[in-house]
Amino acid sequence: MSPELSPTHNPAHVRHGSSIGQPLTRRDGVFKVTGQARFAADNHPAGLLHAVLAVSSIARGRVTSLDVAAAKAHPGVVEVMTPANRPPLALDPDAKTNPFAFRIDVLQSDRVRYANQPIAVVIAESLEAATEGAALLAPHYETEPARVGLDAGDSFAPAAVGVGNPAQVRHGDVEAGLAAATHRVDATYETAAQYHNAMEPHAIVAQWDGDRLILDTPSQGMAIAQGRLGELLGISPDKIHIRSPFLGGGFGSKGLINGPQVLGVLAARLVGRPVKLVLRREHMYGPVGHRSPSRQRLRLGAAGDGLLTAIDHHARIASSSFDDFYEPAADASHTLYASPAIATTHEAVRLDTGTPLFMRAPGEATGSLALESAIDEAAHACGLDPLAFRLKNYAEVEPTSGKPFSSKALRECYAQGAERFGWSRRPLAPRQMRDDHGFLVGWGVGTATFPALMFAAEARAVITADGSGTVEIGAHDMGQGAWTALAQIAADGLGLDLDQLTFKSGSSDLPDAGIAGGSAHTATAGTAIHNAGAAAIAKLAELATTDARSPLYGAGNAGVIARDGRLVRRDDDQRGESYADILGRAGLAQVEARGTGVPDPAAQANYAMHAHGAVFAEVKVDPELGQIRVSRVVGAFAAGRVINPRLAQSQLLGGMIWGVSFALHEEAIADRRSGRILNANLGEYHVPVNADVPSLEALMVEEHDPHVNALGIKGVGEIGITGSAGAVANAVWHATGVRVRRFPIRIDDLVVAS
Ligand code: MOS
Repeated sequence: MSPELSPTHNPAHVRHGSSIGQPLTRRDGVFKVTGQARFAADNHPAGLLHAVLAVSSIARGRVTSLDVAAAKAHPGVVEVMTPANRPPLALDPDAKTNPFAFRIDVLQSDRVRYANQPIAVVIAESLEAATEGAALLAPHYETEPARVGLDAGDSFAPAAVGVGNPAQVRHGDVEAGLAAATHRVDATYETAAQYHNAMEPHAIVAQWDGDRLILDTPSQGMAIAQGRLGELLGISPDKIHIRSPFLGGGFGSKGLINGPQVLGVLAARLVGRPVKLVLRREHMYGPVGHRSPSRQRLRLGAAGDGLLTAIDHHARIASSSFDDFYEPAADASHTLYASPAIATTHEAVRLDTGTPLFMRAPGEATGSLALESAIDEAAHACGLDPLAFRLKNYAEVEPTSGKPFSSKALRECYAQGAERFGWSRRPLAPRQMRDDHGFLVGWGVGTATFPALMFAAEARAVITADGSGTVEIGAHDMGQGAWTALAQIAADGLGLDLDQLTFKSGSSDLPDAGIAGGSAHTATAGTAIHNAGAAAIAKLAELATTDARSPLYGAGNAGVIARDGRLVRRDDDQRGESYADILGRAGLAQVEARGTGVPDPAAQANYAMHAHGAVFAEVKVDPELGQIRVSRVVGAFAAGRVINPRLAQSQLLGGMIWGVSFALHEEAIADRRSGRILNANLGEYHVPVNADVPSLEALMVEEHDPHVNALGIKGVGEIGITGSAGAVANAVWHATGVRVRRFPIRIDDLVVAS
């Protein structure tokens, strides 16, 4: 079962009328719990072969030999793909044709640039044979010393951070602001390298049909993947059909097609049969992106009354030796707090790692942890409650740009979150609260922020003679619920109930939905769907209002509204007729229209657009063992219009959990000598489980934004992680009186210090 083929699945509790705003359950839920959802690796076309990567065990150097003969002699092995026989590409995979064309490793040479880099692909009749064949390759290397850790190389100023953000932004005179301050904080925070670790590993089933290519592979951006594959393979992107109905998570790592996926395509070309390539968990620690470690120095100045005089946020981050993605860690300071002087600057080092990539609020997650920690330290220096300090420095306009916010209900987030959490009972000094077991209890707050972005999307809407509708868009449901929420927008756009609508998604032969990233998918694809629906309705209205036989004759386009499968007069909703009647009389089988979702340049120029939130955390710390348990987290978020409160809340809770793990759990540890990740598995790379977050609440604060897009949607995918990590870190300080500035916070940080 896949969304593009399935009839509309109707949750039992669909109410008639507006679908937007209903807390529907996910339409994919039943498919997933009953095993009907077909993920990429679940596809088994006839004649399928299995491919397994052989990966480098060194981080820098050269492969000097591979025992290809031994692997090929293994029963079941069909072929071994190495740089010697890999099918040619039309474009150098190291060519940078656009900022989203990341350099990839597809056996273009014997060079090794990071541990776990693919160095060969073994293709066999079974997964077992391919795995055994790969183990027989016995690679030899010429090893060069690996550059590991943020101090491994000389730093330089990157030309840009993120995708085209300026690496240095200066507003006002930071040094003067610091000099004039009564209270100063100068603190350096370190965050660890992190890996996306989506539940579903990157997987691809590739089938060539002449010069056409059919791919089952998880994607957060099918059109970008088609374009990238097309240029690499030298074929037209429309010859590439990507099917991506379900993703088992992505977190940014499936935003771009990566090296192992391309190797699956090339393996299928080499052997002339369909090939499946699924990454093993440990192979995901290298070729498919990660979050750079960071070292961030925050210098804050505050006047005697607690008003900030300066924010200086400097971040050192890493990229690979061969590509240029730099997490914009300092950019969070552009937005959050009013200050007459703000500087954000980045420096970078090159390490022998795979190239970092967008991961779970790239920039804001990492930067807000440092900023929110420093803000807490500044509040303490000023003798102020941390929430009062944040309210005192509330940004009424975006500080660095001076633009008004398109909407900003952060004050309400602070108020509602604090009320729910019980913040007013918080003692100002640390180490004042204990629970019944004698554990130290601490409360911390963090501010959440994430930009309200939009990319570009197109959708197609059809109303057919029986009065039902179809909406098509190649959107991406990576588990966040896009398939459900976008269908809700589609139903409203066509004035139909959900059970009258067929919603097709998850395939590249549908209109391009843009990338499911940057928390922008609902805003972008949703706007396209809304506009396509409106355009289809306008065509129906044109038919009716110009036909003397219609009760709507002469009402004019603007005088008609669509509701429950009917057009009715705006001034008299008893007068109208059904879509089926309008089409029947016109003798038409259907009307169809397309719509786009693109940012409004005027609104973009005039307003700063961000979602906001406030997160409150309680931790309990064993005073003897230093063990930290998060006991409660309450977040309150304002993100414009909420399409589906159940799914939005799920997104926010998920983000908050990642915030907890940012502060306390996640850390990829690179071996200093070899550059290999020592904990490249889910046993030793810690992600939070239920027991790590006993009580979690996400409140949604009402916010109407007339500027962001037609529906007022801001996005909820990533904001939950921002602010949450800082809230946890600040709670640890409040519990213990120990300020830990290296993340994740470890037991020994507290035991040694207290
Ligand atoms: Mo996200 S890191 O934009 O998938």
